Amino acid sequence: QMDEGSSTVSSNSYSNGASEKMETDDKDKVFALDQIHDGCRIMARMTTTRQWHDAEVISVRVNPEGTYAFYVHYLECNRRLDEWVTTDDVNVETLRMPVKGQKGAVVPARIPQKCEDAISTREESPASTTGSPDRELSKKMGAVQRKRKATIDPMENLKADESMPPTAETSAPRTSGSMCKVGHSEDALTRIRNIELIELGRHRIQPWYFSPYPQQLTKLPVIYICEFCLKYLKSPTCLKRHMTKCHLKHPPGNEIYRNDNISFFEIDGRKNKSYAQNLCLLAKLFLDHKTLYYDTDPFLFYVMTERDDRGFHIVGFFSKEKESAEEYNVACILVLPSYQKRGYGRLLIEFSYELSKCEGKSGSPEKPLSDLGLLSYRSFWAATIIEQLMHHKESFPSGEENALSVSQLSQLTSIRKEDVISTLQQLNLYKYYKGQYVMVISDDMREMYEKSCKKMRVRIDPSMLKWTPKDWSRRKI
Ligand code: ACO
Ligand code: ZN
Repeated sequence: QMDEGSSTVSSNSYSNGASEKMETDDKDKVFALDQIHDGCRIMARMTTTRQWHDAEVISVRVNPEGTYAFYVHYLECNRRLDEWVTTDDVNVETLRMPVKGQKGAVVPARIPQKCEDAISTREESPASTTGSPDRELSKKMGAVQRKRKATIDPMENLKADESMPPTAETSAPRTSGSMCKVGHSEDALTRIRNIELIELGRHRIQPWYFSPYPQQLTKLPVIYICEFCLKYLKSPTCLKRHMTKCHLKHPPGNEIYRNDNISFFEIDGRKNKSYAQNLCLLAKLFLDHKTLYYDTDPFLFYVMTERDDRGFHIVGFFSKEKESAEEYNVACILVLPSYQKRGYGRLLIEFSYELSKCEGKSGSPEKPLSDLGLLSYRSFWAATIIEQLMHHKESFPSGEENALSVSQLSQLTSIRKEDVISTLQQLNLYKYYKGQYVMVISDDMREMYEKSCKKMRVRIDPSMLKWTPKDWSRRKI
């Protein structure tokens, strides 16, 4: 709706003569703004910090009132900070144009002193040389609108409907053992956050990234998600109606762990397909670098919940391939933003390694890791390795027996050898000494150990895990 509205209103506002009263300066500004398109660079002001940053323009929108909005990506910043900014929050004097054929290259924009001069230098087709600046502007806005319309339609193909037939991508044999495809889409559409807000149980959460929810939902100010089955609905009324029919009070699947109010449920992506697909859609809102596969069959999902008298509320989850050629023990991992930075991510990671211990294997998370994923894994690996070294030091205060190898550390923790080594290096405990690598246990390690113990308030208690690994190679996935 907004599209139709904006194109008519904006052309009216520039063709009804009102703009003739515009000061030349304003016209220049409007003209400069009109030059901004996707691929340009410009200084933009971040809404949260009010700081100016260099940014790339991803998309331009003309609002119903005829004003512009720009979807910008702040360079060197994570894409969850990408946002729509207004004309007040861009500095047109810093506008730089992309260079055709040279990815990432830009040249300063020529911002004209006089609007008329600029128009005449920019005219390419003889038909438009007679066009007034106003008509020119309205025409350009029309072009922006047409462009938007054309790019919006492909989203129809991305919609995640339970009845949706598999896309070519999902029906083709998987080439990697991953639920997720690596690499950024160049498509501007999937680079723009499309859901304004979600309501999930007691929480209202602002999404970080694009997720292929049905297009009609992307126009709503809020989408409502059943916190137990994760079905998405378009209004509170629909949700209410759904809640009278949905009798789930916990995720589907088996509760394989319970300690105090924390539980883990194991969900088979083949047996609970619609739950698994809804979970992936929800997760995509907070995961970049990942493209959704609709084929959830090859995955297990481990959902962590917090229990109260109303039920088991989802806090986060990780997915895991039933069989991984690369020995990944986690495909995607997420803690919902309302629960982040409270140690739950660590708990999920610890749980994933407990499963690997039960399997008698070492494992590693699927690459690439996100910025927050890397921070969380590094912190977990460091704490776990320090803990092992401290236990070892206490058991063998001195002497020959004191030797502990990288392989042993890996066996004890199920952390893959490469990750053990990179962690030791990071901690500066891995040194080349007399022709070989040795672990040097320093004096400040106790301090590091105590610090990390303090942070780990909640731990996974392996005795509470009721789970035996299945041999998926002998089953139908
Ligand atoms: N800024 C700085 N440090 C952070 C932040 C942050 N925003 N978030 C977590 N950390 C650090 C913590 O300081 C902590 O380290 P410390 O104990 O040494 O201080 C460590 O990371 C873990 O903290 P938790 O509170 O346990 O982590 P959280 O519950 O926030 O979950 C997670 C971490 C799962 C990565 C979460 O941020 C998330 O879901 N992010 C969005 C999705 C994502 O990026 N997932 C990982 C993708 S990679 C993959 O899927 C394999
Ligand atoms: Zn439900």
